[in-house]
Amino acid sequence: MTQHLSRNFVAGFLLILQVTFSLENKFELAGSATPITGKLGQAVVLPCQLKPNISAKAMEITWLTDDDKTTVFQYKAGLVQGVSEQYKNRTLLFLDQLPSGNVSLLIMDLRVSDDNKYKCFVFEKEWFNDIVVQLAISNLGDRPQLSLANKDDGVTLKCESQGWYPKPLLQWRSIAGKSLAGHVEALESPNGLITMSSQIVIPDDNSGVICSIQDGQSRKIYKSQVYINEHFFKYVASSWKALGIMLIFFLLAALLLVAVFMFFFKKSKVKIESEKQRLESGKFNT
Ligand SMILES: *[C@@H]1O[C@H](CO)[C@@H](O)[C@H](O)[C@H]1NC(C)=O
Ligand SMILES: *[C@@H]1O[C@H](CO)[C@@H](O)[C@H](O)[C@H]1NC(C)=O
Ligand SMILES: *[C@@H]1O[C@H](CO)[C@@H](O)[C@H](O)[C@H]1NC(C)=O
Repeated sequence: MTQHLSRNFVAGFLLILQVTFSLENKFELAGSATPITGKLGQAVVLPCQLKPNISAKAMEITWLTDDDKTTVFQYKAGLVQGVSEQYKNRTLLFLDQLPSGNVSLLIMDLRVSDDNKYKCFVFEKEWFNDIVVQLAISNLGDRPQLSLANKDDGVTLKCESQGWYPKPLLQWRSIAGKSLAGHVEALESPNGLITMSSQIVIPDDNSGVICSIQDGQSRKIYKSQVYINEHFFKYVASSWKALGIMLIFFLLAALLLVAVFMFFFKKSKVKIESEKQRLESGKFNT
């Protein structure tokens, strides 16, 4: 009888021991609730930290794309196991940080194609956990370049800016603040960066036009503007509004001079034409 009881007691004790053992190895993962922003060509750390901060040295750590299709980095049995081609030579775990449960991933030389959600998956004999961290790639493009073209229906102004990701917002408006409609095109280059381009016909009654490009992520606005009055176009600086940097496009100034020349040339032609007519009609009258 006593022996029976003590056997139950021992079994119970063992059960408690086992539960305690499992609980000791249980962990949560902490990452980032907001997307991590990475700049093209630079490096970024995707955070993933064991809570409590037990050692992850003997655990299996896998970073993969959220759709489970691509293994970005795998560490198992104390060794780096593999990295898919797309991320080869560009990803690392901080091996010296594993003892404190830091299983964050370093991605270097960022590309547009890295813009994705990543899963940090940590596995241990009796327990596993995973979290998702989003990486948002951003790249600010060039200053918008304005150029002029003389067409039948008036002077056309073209605004172009390269090297954006994600797609920014291109807008036209008059100096007076009225928004102007222009057809906007977004072209993707082979490296995934976007070129924005738009054209408008300059309205006669306008004092000037502004082409602005706004980055959706940082909200930075990049502007180029042209002042126009009756007899000449005067090109004025374009600037990063946020930074207050003033830049002058000499090329555009040259283009504007050509435009001014053409404008006067046309005008004088019209004058000669009307003078001729006046003389001719004068002949008739006398
Ligand atoms: C990774 O680096 C090794 C050694 O520098 C090189 O041989 C290999 O081509 C690289 N792989 C990629 C995908 O860049
Ligand atoms: C775990 O975190 C605690 C409290 O933040 C800290 O005191 C301790 O040094 C950490 N342990 C390791 C192994 O880093
Ligand atoms: C993990 O280690 C890396 C490299 O030292 C560091 O940048 C990162 O902040 C660490 N993460 C946490 C959650 O401590």
